[in-house]
Amino acid sequence: MPAHHQGDGAHQELHHEVGVGPWEGELPEGEQWDLELLAEGDRRNVLDQYRYWSMDAIVADLDTRRHDFHIAIENWQHDMNIGTVVRTANAFLAKEVHIIGRRRWNRRGAMVTDRYQHVRHHPTVEDFVQWAHGEGLAIIGIDIFPDSEKLETYELPKNCVLVFGQEGPGLSPEVHDAAQAVLSIEQFGSTRSINAASAAGIAMHAWIRRHVFEQNVS
Ligand SMILES: C[S@@+](CC[C@H](N)C(=O)[O-])C[C@H]1O[C@@H](n2cnc3c(N)ncnc32)[C@H](O)[C@@H]1O
Repeated sequence: MPAHHQGDGAHQELHHEVGVGPWEGELPEGEQWDLELLAEGDRRNVLDQYRYWSMDAIVADLDTRRHDFHIAIENWQHDMNIGTVVRTANAFLAKEVHIIGRRRWNRRGAMVTDRYQHVRHHPTVEDFVQWAHGEGLAIIGIDIFPDSEKLETYELPKNCVLVFGQEGPGLSPEVHDAAQAVLSIEQFGSTRSINAASAAGIAMHAWIRRHVFEQNVS
């Protein structure tokens, strides 16, 4: 691309600020408002209805209407997909996000959305399975195994935890064994698999279509 075009793009980006500037006029009353944001403006990646709200107030509001599905991802190596999975879980309003394995994960792809989400850590698959059973949640693995059923036609339970594996190994045998079912997303090209973040977006949206839009799978 010619240099002057790059310059133009950068110039436009500088002038395209997200959000709103400082609050104008009399300050609003209510516990949800964040005084610093009101004074300095709110440039966060949040819906307009949450402009100038404190993070705690936004989380409390989300908590009143979270969906019944949870998501979990195995984290035995450093998987770059986790941040994106968390961001998508926030967008589709998962009840909680569960990290199985290592506690540390790369937050970059989450774009701060993890702060609006309840993220719970389980050091082992055994801990995770015990927790899920205690909550009465169906464990649904998402991966391509010889015994996988099709996500497209499977009756997803309302109260469930959708579990995703890692780039490379995929879902662990322990999660495979604990799952009520493992579901695969039908593919049509030459690649063996899609990445975990894409798979997570598709699977969460399947739950949304079934339980928010009440679309039947068969
Ligand atoms: C890159 S895949 C792992 C490799 C995969 N187990 C294989 O056999 O090639 C990483 C994760 O993405 C998800 N995934 C990728 N493609 C999928 C598909 N077509 N159906 C279901 N899950 C998929 C699964 O959660 C999987 O554990």
